Order: sequence, then structure tokens, then C-alpha cells
Amino acid sequence: MIKHLRSAADLDAETATLILDTAGEMAALAGREVKKLPTLRGRTVVNLFYEDSTRTRISFEAAAKRLSADVINFSAKGSSVSKGESLKDTALTLQAMGADAVVIRHPASGAPHRLASWVDGSVINAGDGTHEHPTQALLDAYTMRSRLGRIAGLRVVIVGDVLHSRVARSNVLLLSTLGAKVTLVGPPTLVPVDIAAALEPSTEVSYDLDSVLPDADVVMMLRVQTERMQDSFFPSAREYSRRYGLDVPRMRKLPEHAIVMHPGPMNRGMEIAPEVADSSRSTIVEQVANGVSARMAVLYLLLGGKA
Ligand code: CP
Repeated sequence: MIKHLRSAADLDAETATLILDTAGEMAALAGREVKKLPTLRGRTVVNLFYEDSTRTRISFEAAAKRLSADVINFSAKGSSVSKGESLKDTALTLQAMGADAVVIRHPASGAPHRLASWVDGSVINAGDGTHEHPTQALLDAYTMRSRLGRIAGLRVVIVGDVLHSRVARSNVLLLSTLGAKVTLVGPPTLVPVDIAAALEPSTEVSYDLDSVLPDADVVMMLRVQTERMQDSFFPSAREYSRRYGLDVPRMRKLPEHAIVMHPGPMNRGMEIAPEVADSSRSTIVEQVANGVSARMAVLYLLLGGKA
């Protein structure tokens, strides 16, 4: 088993499948009256968050607690980071507290890689800048497999602000490893022509959402990340929504079995219509629940558990 999960590229097909299978076993616990396992008793998991998060932070905390680990939650806001303390010194402080695993979210792409060189424990990337979010890709793959029965051969369309999306990057890498066919769709300003080839040569690019929907098994809508945009990437929110938003008429172009995903948080009414987000095709709430199981599996396996 790998020691760190810094990128979806750290996962070969065998390791990724083991994590998904283990997540399935962890999900079975959710239906039990007592949801805890004693497997990580005496181990310490630190959640080190330099960026805001709802889903990822809460689900890592729930995952570690369900495995009986001691959990330390660190938020940059209100810490000595505001006095100028560096990531390295913060990491060494956590190291001194005996962290067995550090879950890090950071605005700088590559921060988890740096952290792994400073601490002895496992490092898990919970989102670094616009780079990667590998546990999101794992929970997404788990959700696809649960709903559609397989990943190999699936046609997955990822739509929207690919340029700023760590979710898209990790999904392209993991889904390609597991044999799915990925198409990236969005305005040319947000889906640069070379981005697909740079990530994974088999990935395709389209700028016409309507033309790819009839063949999709999965359509994954991405949040438009206006907070990361210094320039104007599209004429207006209304125009973006008209060309690349998933509304009910567009959803009807999907095959009957196709599912609609979104990593959250959503801009309802922009990249996804509320009626679509709340429809029976939508897996958005399921993705959040599956996030706990997937993160339990990652913590369990990286910290020395067996399948
Ligand atoms: N999907 C995701 O990473 O959500 P949060 O930013 O709320 O953690």
C-alpha cells in the first residue's frame, strides 16, 4: 500500500480498486447502530485546513472518528499562521504531537508534496490549489460504481470550469486508470485545448455540451470558481448558463440510465438548475455520504489496515 495520497496518479488500478472495495465495506457500517470500528485506536489524524471546506473537512473528521482515531482539527484561521508561521514550522509542530496522518487542504498547488518531506506520517491531499483532490475522485468513482455497476468503459463527461478544477484533474487521472473514457466540456477559455492531453492522452475535449450528452453515462458538473478568476472567462453568468449549464431540457438528452454528479458546493442556477440538482438522476447527496466511506478506506489502508 502507498504511504501518501498526494495525487490520483499515486494510485494504480489495483490500489484504487482495493480502496473502492474497502469503501464498500466501510459503507456497510453506516447502516449499523454502532458505526465505529476500533482499527485506528491510539492513532492520531490531523486535519490541516488552510482553505475553507464543508464536505471534505467534516467527512475526514467523521471518517477518522468512526475508525476510533484521535482527531486534531487545525484551521489556519485563528492559528499562529496569522502571525506568519510557515507551513514547515506548522508541520513540525504537528509532527511533535505525533501525527500518524496529516490531511491537508492548501491554496498552493504542491503543498502536500512539500509536507510529505517534512513529516513522518502519511500525507493525504484534501485539495491543493487548482492541482488535485484525489479523495474527491475516489468518492466520485465509488458513486459511479455503486450506481452503474462498473467504471471500465463508462463515458464520463466533465463540464465547466476545468481550468481551475482540482476535482477535474484528479477525476481524469483516476477514471482513466480505471478504464473510463473522459470528455472535458466547457468554453475554450476554461478548457484549454492542451489540458486534456497534458493530463491523460486518451481524454477528449468538446466545446458543444448538447452534442456529447446523448452518449454520456455520467455527466459531472463543475462549480464555476469565480474566486480564482482574475480575468473575464465568459461574457456573463447568463451566457455561461445558456451554453454550459445543465437544465431540465438538456438533462432529457441524456440516456435513461445516466447520472448527474457535482462535487459541491454548487452555484444553483448557473452550472446546474435546481430541478436537475434535486432530481432522481442526481447523486449529489449520495456523493457526500460516500465521501465518509471513501475517506475511511483511505485512512484505514494508508495507516496499515488490511483489506
Ligand atoms: N467537494 C469539496 O471539496 O467540497 P468542500 O470544499 O466543501 O470540501
